[in-house]
Parts: sequence; C-alpha cells; structure tokens
Amino acid sequence: MIVLTAGLELVYEQPRGWLEVNPPLFYPDIAPASVVEVAGRVSDSGFEFVRGSFYGEALLASNYWRELAASFRDLPVDRYLAKGADFRRRRYGRFFLDIEGKLADAPSAPFVQARRYNSYAGDVRRYFDELEPTVRQNPSLLLLIATDAAVVRAVFPTRRFWRVEVHQFRITARPGAMGFPTPEGIHRDGNDIFAIHLIDRDCRGGQSRVYSEDGRPLAKRFLKRPLDSLYVFDSVVLHDVSPIQTKGGCGVRDVINIDFFGL
Ligand SMILES: [Fe+2]
Repeated sequence: MIVLTAGLELVYEQPRGWLEVNPPLFYPDIAPASVVEVAGRVSDSGFEFVRGSFYGEALLASNYWRELAASFRDLPVDRYLAKGADFRRRRYGRFFLDIEGKLADAPSAPFVQARRYNSYAGDVRRYFDELEPTVRQNPSLLLLIATDAAVVRAVFPTRRFWRVEVHQFRITARPGAMGFPTPEGIHRDGNDIFAIHLIDRDCRGGQSRVYSEDGRPLAKRFLKRPLDSLYVFDSVVLHDVSPIQTKGGCGVRDVINIDFFGL
C-alpha cells in the first residue's frame, strides 16, 4: 500500500480485486497545508489557478510524465465536432474514487453533457476512444488524480464516493485555421468540481477565463508551463478558453481535464 503525503492511499483495481499501484509511486513534494489553501480559495471564489510547482518538481522530471505527454501525439480526432472540423483530438476514461484512498477502474460509458450546459454537443451520447491502458495506469496521471482528490476532499469534506472522468485533449491550429478549446463558448461542465492541467503548448491564444454566473469576467490567465492548472467549482462559476492560433507551423495545446462527480 502506498501512503501519500496528502493522506490518500492510492489503490488501482484490477479485475480480481484491489491491487497496489505498480510500479510504486513517488509523491510530489506537496504540503497538506497548500492543498487546504487551494481548496479554501476554490470554496471562497469558485476557482483557483495554481502553478505547476504546486505538484512538485519530481512529477515533471519523471519518465512517466514524458510518456504521458507523448501519448497526446496520437489522440484520435473528436468525431462530434460540427461540420467535420478536426481541431480537437481526445480520449476519455472513467474511475471510481473512495476519497478515503481507493481508486478503481469504472466501466466505459458514453460521455453526456446536458444541453443546458453544452449548447454545442449537449444531450448527445458521445462515444470517445478510451484512454490507452498505459495512460490509465501511468503513475503521473494517478498522482494528478490523487492530488486533485486531496483538493476535492478539502472542498467537500463530507462526501466520500466520487466518479472521476479523465479527458485528454489536444487542440490544434493551422495557418489561417484557429483551434477552439471550448466551441460551446462560456459554459459549465455539469460536474461538481474539476481541474484542467496543462500538459504542454506551442501556440498563441488559449487563455483560460472564469466568469460569474451572470457572465461577469472574474479572472483570466494563460496556463503556460507544464502542469499550470485551474481548479473550478463548476456550480459556482462559468468558464471558457479563448481560441488558439499557430505561431508559425502548427499550433498545439494539450491538457488533461479531471472531473469529479459526487455519488
Ligand atoms: Fe468546460
């Protein structure tokens, strides 16, 4: 059993039961006090931007991180974009989380967002390609989930069981053709709380923006460096991301979204 600094024990379920994560995890050098601080700001303001340093140096320095980042190179195109557009590539996976410290695979299922949250593709059962098995078990990804879970636990101290949905996204732009991270515009995602983690970017634009419920801008910031992240209390604030443009050749913005739904 791996005991993480933030107090979570992370267990990965195989078909025959609960198993330890293998290979053993290092854990980012993250102080529980920082988690509580971030969670406090999410609770008070509805969001919080954090720099990649929040997750510790070790995570970015690992081979697991390089493997995770490399997996974005061959994400399949999102088949549900309007008019046959191809500016978004993605994969999707689901887990169950016992906030006391267990993570398990959840069966694959279509991704559905209510139309009231997503006017672009709402109420559509979208069957995205699954996370690749090597990504699903990538220790850097599992550590991101564990860190986010620590924040979630501090925001919702009385809720124990969660469904966790992981989205890998690559947005691309070409000369004269912008890429749209949020073609639905200013929106909610329809979960309880989520994190957006930048994997990498080579583009102009792609600014993360947060709004009050009545559409007043509250904050905007570029996730510039790997693991720069944004936590969003989805029922409290709205969000979007500005389009990306190429800096010359192709423009690319890779992120992982980790969504939490209380069960
Ligand atoms: Fe969103």
